[in-house]
Amino acid sequence: MKICVVGTGYVGLVGAAVFSDWGNDVVGVDINAEKIERIKKGDMPIFEPSLSEIVLKNISEGRLSFTTSLSEGVKKSDIIFICVGTPQSEAGDADLSFVWKVAEDIGKCLDGYKVIVVKSTVPVGTNEIVKKKIKENLTYNVDFDVVSNPEFLREGYSVEDMRNPERTVIGSDSEKALSIMRELYSHLERPIVECDLRSAEMIKYASNAFLASKISFINEMAQLCERSGADVSTVAKGMGLDSRIGPKFLNAGIGYGGSCFPKDVSALYKTSTNQDYDFRLLRGVIEVNKLQREYFVNKISRYFDGNLSGKTIGVLGLSFKENTDDVRESVAMGVVKHLRGLGAKIKAFDPEAMYNAKKVLGEVSVDYCLDKYEVMHDSDALVILTEWKDFSNLDLDKVKSLLKEPVIFDGRNVLDRKKVESAGFVYFAVGKRTNGTELLDKKSSSGSGVILRDGK
Ligand code: UDX
Ligand code: UDX
Repeated sequence: MKICVVGTGYVGLVGAAVFSDWGNDVVGVDINAEKIERIKKGDMPIFEPSLSEIVLKNISEGRLSFTTSLSEGVKKSDIIFICVGTPQSEAGDADLSFVWKVAEDIGKCLDGYKVIVVKSTVPVGTNEIVKKKIKENLTYNVDFDVVSNPEFLREGYSVEDMRNPERTVIGSDSEKALSIMRELYSHLERPIVECDLRSAEMIKYASNAFLASKISFINEMAQLCERSGADVSTVAKGMGLDSRIGPKFLNAGIGYGGSCFPKDVSALYKTSTNQDYDFRLLRGVIEVNKLQREYFVNKISRYFDGNLSGKTIGVLGLSFKENTDDVRESVAMGVVKHLRGLGAKIKAFDPEAMYNAKKVLGEVSVDYCLDKYEVMHDSDALVILTEWKDFSNLDLDKVKSLLKEPVIFDGRNVLDRKKVESAGFVYFAVGKRTNGTELLDKKSSSGSGVILRDGK
């Protein structure tokens, strides 16, 4: 099949690569000429395992090309995927200006029947407006259909998720368009959900909001576990073995981040208020997520008796999660800024995200280190903010010899509490009582301990 993918960001580039790897002829289009030139040379603008190999292979075999010309891409293709970003607007809903612009431009160059597929995450009702905008801008009197085919790609695993999705959702009111989409995905062995446009749009938001709710739920449980002496990791394990609950997305931590969850939960909340419905649960999910990081920073601050000025904090992890260089809405970055704001000096290391972190942090002065141990050198404490696997196997003797004080704040529960404590560290984790929380409790009873999240 002949496919055009508009927007070669995280989603579009992976989509274009995998569609071509399935044997389709694919053109990737982006307004960013520099990005297109880089991709053509096999220099991927994002870190995503195996992506550059697939891109280079399919370019060299003649199935994949890239251009900045939308009309070239549209004219060559039968299916056009819209994969441009839909960032959060000031008001908290989805900013659809890129989608509108692309829809109008597609309309102008549509020269025959084509299927226009919206892959970007867009609020319920958007696909119908896309259809209207294309129609209003048609140069030729041609027929076309619009399909909603949301993506469920996890960054860091997106090639795998694109190749073998757990489910594929295709929403359309046109049987002709549905049959073309069925053919594209015919080799997939997992379920295909065919539905109307609005339900397809809603499935995407409902899925992300549910996963975010799962995280905020376990983070609330973590608060309770920490106060009551239970261990949230054990509780999550026990819960997760129930197949109705499942083990995934039950890792307590410093909250969810990334380019999707925060904006999608916020956009869904906005959609509900626009429909005169107050989605109370989502309000709670958002609030818990915000407080979770504040609680973590508060623990660090309380340990140092509320005075971080002049203290050096070694930070491991800047990306919003493991296996990615993406720092968009990264909670780790928020914590770094907060600690800097409280006067701490920061030494930081991330295996992939330092280049992006430098761009985003700009003025915020951070000493970027070459490896994970360098951040510990002469630091007053070690803080783990991203769940990179490489951070779970620290040489504890080495860590102890490098730190000024043997203190670790593990915001992602990547370390083994018993090992860390018996190696002589003061250890803080999320949702479990440790020798660190006991120390703060003692301070608290003497009037200077941890301030709990609800102020009690
Ligand atoms: C995608 C989705 O589109 C978003 O809705 C979803 O929620 C998350 O994933 P993503 O791939 O992460 O977004 O966005 P980004 O990496 O910003 O890439 C978008 C690309 O579209 C950029 O390369 C940008 O240059 C390009 N673009 C933008 C166009 O080609 N044309 C435009 O008019 C606007
Ligand atoms: C998410 C969805 O999973 C994906 O289906 C959708 O298409 C895009 O949004 P992604 O943003 O790549 O994917 O990240 P994800 O792996 O879902 O993690 C999101 C955030 O939740 C990260 O900050 C992560 O650290 C956090 N998280 C995840 C937890 O705090 N605990 C968990 O148990 C799982």
